[in-house]
Amino acid sequence: MDESDRRRLSVSTVDVAEGREAEFHNLSNTFQALFGRKGYGRFETFRDEGVPTRYYSVREWSGTAAAETCHSDVEVQGLTSKLYRIARVTHVVNGVRRPDSLRLVLDNHRAGVESDRRSGFDRRDATRKEREVERRHNRERRLGPRRLRAGAVAVDLVAAARRAREHADAAFSRFKVGAALEAGDGTVITGCNIENATYGLTMCAERVAMFKALSEGHRVFSRIAIVVDSERPTPPCGACRQVLWEFGGNLEVQLANLSQEQGTHQLKDLLPLPFDARLL
Ligand code: THU
Repeated sequence: MDESDRRRLSVSTVDVAEGREAEFHNLSNTFQALFGRKGYGRFETFRDEGVPTRYYSVREWSGTAAAETCHSDVEVQGLTSKLYRIARVTHVVNGVRRPDSLRLVLDNHRAGVESDRRSGFDRRDATRKEREVERRHNRERRLGPRRLRAGAVAVDLVAAARRAREHADAAFSRFKVGAALEAGDGTVITGCNIENATYGLTMCAERVAMFKALSEGHRVFSRIAIVVDSERPTPPCGACRQVLWEFGGNLEVQLANLSQEQGTHQLKDLLPLPFDARLL
């Protein structure tokens, strides 16, 4: 299999809740039919011989455009949300990564951050200065996430955060939060708050999403959506602002409740005068 073929294959492990296998098989069949009908490619599910409720979902995309259209397809998103209710899905191979997309998004991402507000990630990158010079001379090279998905509908990040919120474990505060983080290649990584009887070990939804993303190899991010069931918009707490800034830079932060969107902010406005690795 050559490099380009590998980029078009997506694989996830799917751990199905006990007793929900029949629903999962139905969903798999629906996914498979939909992939064929809409020309997205091939969809297959394999059972793990060693772990009874574990499956591998393999998508062989007919192309990167097909993969992107599929991710923003509302029918697919509906099925995915059903899947998430009965299974834990871990993305193992991401097939929509394109050779230049990370570089392009990274450039745009940094260009959006004022020179005194670069994240620590920039400072650790020895080749940054050369790229900055190159960027100044070649501005039209900067394409953002929206340009990369030109023609396709943008991913509904708020809907993903609403779904993630359903998994929140907020036994003590009853304040459930969902977050969905969009990586530079379009992958959406979700998180919810997980509380702890010692209170102090509680982890916010935004950091769960960011740490999941980092642990799966993502390093470039464009947006995060945060959802709470509240009339007033709930911006990220201070600790989350810091972590999001250090790893995500000047993210677009979308706030929403269960029925409506409640405003979009730039992280640099939520965290003025940040502390980061540039100061070390
Ligand atoms: N929480 C988040 O998940 N994100 C925030 O940015 C603010 C607070 C959670 C933590 C805790 O489980 C609950 O909301 C109440 O503070």
